[in-house]
Amino acid sequence: MARTTKIFASILSADFLRLGEEIRTCADAGADGFQIDVMDGHFVPNITLGPGMVRACRRATDLPLDAHLMIEEPASFLEAFAEAGADSITVHVEADRHIHRTLEAIHELGLRAGVALNPGTPLEVLRPVLHLADLILIMTVNPGFAGQSFLAGSEDRIRLAREFVDSHGYETEIQVDGGINAETARLAAGAGATNFVAASAIFQHPDGIAAGIGALREAIAAATA
Ligand code: DX5
Repeated sequence: MARTTKIFASILSADFLRLGEEIRTCADAGADGFQIDVMDGHFVPNITLGPGMVRACRRATDLPLDAHLMIEEPASFLEAFAEAGADSITVHVEADRHIHRTLEAIHELGLRAGVALNPGTPLEVLRPVLHLADLILIMTVNPGFAGQSFLAGSEDRIRLAREFVDSHGYETEIQVDGGINAETARLAAGAGATNFVAASAIFQHPDGIAAGIGALREAIAAATA
């Protein structure tokens, strides 16, 4: 049976002056949700968005909003993102000495919990917290900026994550993020990813947002048929 797949638009590459309109265009084109990339200039070498942006997106859509926290000490900000209207919060294992407690705290707030891994982090760190994660985010670039290229070796990491999840009989979603376009989405889907996050391939697609989402959808469908 084919797995359910989801496309998340990362608003990092949206036109912020027309954000509401762009979010609605994504929704009309079949996006399954939105990712808000939160960067603090410490965990990653860039500063981006905060809870205020989640609150603004919440006013534009009822679709799921995932706050991807690329920040040090993410546990200090869980309530702020929950109050702003996030449906899920994804935290990096590298940024949190107490990832187990943090994933539990996200659930206590009534949200879905995601655990993210940078490309250089061994997947084995997932084992002790796999049962607490609704989704695993396998970064396919080193986080910090939109528009980077999908890293070689990512498919093997996705395959390994798929083995971990399947061997436990879990339904954990496997999300990929970074350099996802029609070609790399096809590779990632073939390796077992279920959720595809894209910024450039959606918001910077030469034929527009709907064409970008359509191309991703088609590539994923072809790989999972
Ligand atoms: C990586 C961010 C990504 C990024 C993806 O630092 O977490 O979500 O915006 O951008 P693209 O799709 O352009 O690689």
